[in-house]
Amino acid sequence: MLVFLNHHIKPQTRKKEPNLSSKEGDDQIEEMKGFAPLAPIAKRLQGKVAVITGGATGLGASAARLFARHGAKVVIADIQPEPGRLLSEEINSSAAASYVHCDVTVDADVRNAVDAAVSTHGRLDVMLSNAGVIARPDTMAIASTDPDDFRRVFDVNVYGAFLAAKHAARVMIPEGKGSILMSGSMVTASYGAAPHLYVATKHAVVGLAKNLCVELGGYGIRVNSISPYGVATPMGVESSGLDEETYEGLFTAMANLKGVVFKAEDVAEAALTLVSDESRYISGVNLLVDGGHSLKSA
Ligand SMILES: NC(=O)c1ccc[n+]([C@@H]2O[C@H](COP(=O)([O-])OP(=O)(O)OC[C@H]3O[C@@H](n4cnc5c(N)ncnc54)[C@H](O)[C@@H]3O)[C@@H](O)[C@H]2O)c1
Repeated sequence: MLVFLNHHIKPQTRKKEPNLSSKEGDDQIEEMKGFAPLAPIAKRLQGKVAVITGGATGLGASAARLFARHGAKVVIADIQPEPGRLLSEEINSSAAASYVHCDVTVDADVRNAVDAAVSTHGRLDVMLSNAGVIARPDTMAIASTDPDDFRRVFDVNVYGAFLAAKHAARVMIPEGKGSILMSGSMVTASYGAAPHLYVATKHAVVGLAKNLCVELGGYGIRVNSISPYGVATPMGVESSGLDEETYEGLFTAMANLKGVVFKAEDVAEAALTLVSDESRYISGVNLLVDGGHSLKSA
């Protein structure tokens, strides 16, 4: 980074050649750019505590690994104990993670997951409301959409996100800070490729996040949503009936951005950026992580 900055400062505009090996040198470069001295960026969530709903598998698990690698203490809140515990053991070999049973459609479970984070680690900085389910494939047609499936998917995707935000806000408001990130989907920007009711839930989540951003901004809390393109997670793969390789190949072929195979880790990196302090003035955004796909198909 320092090499990059130095390379781009024209010699004639330099007041004095900075000594790049010293803190004074760092400060001089930053002063020239009008920014405060660089904060350490190697661990972008150092000292923070994050609850990740649906963190046992898929995108949530990938975020749990990355957040922990960046110094966060992670609470994995999920209904699948086996992968949840295995993941927390894996993370615990080098960082801090725990699994708590939490059905996001149950108020007491979500309350308990948030309270567990606060009682164990003393605080909650990040709520990643990621738990989600897809509608049955036969609900691609409105005529065959089963009201029970409608309720099931809305319960997890929307009511679950509402409860996650409600309980996160409960403990974040007194602290006057925090970051809530909700799981949207590219279906909030492109249409026709997913069941109606799944699309409706993701629009509801994005709307909820934007409205919460307005209320919770008054307490210093940021609320955003993240909307990925198709990734070969258990949800995607199982609902398609394809094997993982074929599923990934299909999405790669349809993608707008060529030369990249979209992975869960790409979503985790974008989520990390949104929840970390580097994005401290970003709130109310629905970040599409879709390589431009939605623009192509809009
Ligand atoms: N995979 C994709 O292509 C994709 C694209 C856009 C958005 N999303 C969204 O990302 C989120 C994660 O999806 P994924 O692909 O990782 O799916 P996944 O099925 O791999 O993971 C979802 C996780 O949520 C958990 N979960 C389900 N119901 C729950 C409940 N009631 N309470 C608590 N946890 C519950 C599951 O146990 C699982 O661990 C979802 O909200 C999904 O809609 C996924």
